[in-house]
Amino acid sequence: MSLPTKVKIVEVGPRDGLQNEAQNVPVEVKVKLVELLVDAGLRSIEAGAFVSPKWVPQMASSAEVYRQVTKSPGISYPMLVPNMRGLEQAIESGVEEIALFAAASETFSQKNTNCSIEESVGRFTDVVSKAQQHNMRIRGYISCALGCPYEGEVDANVVVDLTRRLHDVGCYEVSVADTIGVGTANQAQALFEQLAGAIPVTQLAAHFHDTYGQALANIHAVLQTGVAVIDSSVAGLGGCPYAKGATGNVATEDVVYMLNGMGIDTGIDMDKLLDAGVYINGFLDRAPVSRAANALLKKKAS
Ligand code: HMG
Ligand code: MG
Repeated sequence: MSLPTKVKIVEVGPRDGLQNEAQNVPVEVKVKLVELLVDAGLRSIEAGAFVSPKWVPQMASSAEVYRQVTKSPGISYPMLVPNMRGLEQAIESGVEEIALFAAASETFSQKNTNCSIEESVGRFTDVVSKAQQHNMRIRGYISCALGCPYEGEVDANVVVDLTRRLHDVGCYEVSVADTIGVGTANQAQALFEQLAGAIPVTQLAAHFHDTYGQALANIHAVLQTGVAVIDSSVAGLGGCPYAKGATGNVATEDVVYMLNGMGIDTGIDMDKLLDAGVYINGFLDRAPVSRAANALLKKKAS
């Protein structure tokens, strides 16, 4: 399989990135971040989550964030939805794309959604059918695909089976996630080869957290299987509240830098992407974890 000539980056910073922040990030900051990302050329930006505010307080403002973002034509602003209650909020907000999530580990499923894997996938049938009545596009996630913070190793066959089920129930794309960033390149590539045999590779996405510094190597490895959709988070923001110690997603700046160097088109303007990272890091009073962003910003300043 040859490498893709184009890659779509799904920016998850405003949701996956910010959901774990202890300090309150005001609506206007989230809105500005989303708009800066659009300006940088991102075409799909996960803007928030309709989950329980008791479970993830940072996402409680998601309806307001979605309302205030100036919607640009041709851009998707998916919102994470765990159940029918979340879908109803998405419908009220006029959301056009939602993202459902399930886990390949029983313990993680319980910790993250208070139900078993079967219960979470069982809910999807009704959620999807109602979402389809509202002409929504539906994306799916599988967490813990390369390892679980509670159970350790995860059976690849469970990941493949769940991916197929999310695809069959109506997800146009299934994003397969290394939630705690433990996977390494050969393992990631073997899994995605298996996945590409289960559903069309054009409907797969890779979602790697960078806890162990393996995300870029893993992305490089799965690109060889034909995957051309990569999730990432500006400035490497984030972590999962139900995966203690897990750090953020791979930084969008690092992914774009690598893909630019490989001659793979992302449509992203690096300078504007850096601006988005500087903006959110300025608010959070934090240095970017992105190695590429740090290096490029230093070079610009010199
Ligand atoms: P539960 O407590 O079992 O829910 O939580 P329940 O149905 O028993 O309801 C309890 C209360 O929550 C009720 O309110 C409901 O109305 C309310 P009360 O009567 O007590 O006032 N409720 C809701 N409120 C707002 N929005 C909703 C909603 N549903 C119920 N949608 C639930 C079950 C799924 C809601 C909860 O476990 C939850 O919100 N979990 C989400 C956790 C989360 O957001 N995790 C992070 C995102 S996933 C992730 O980061 C992984 C990913 O990035 C991929 C990867 O890297 O692996 C996607
Ligand atoms: Mg994630």
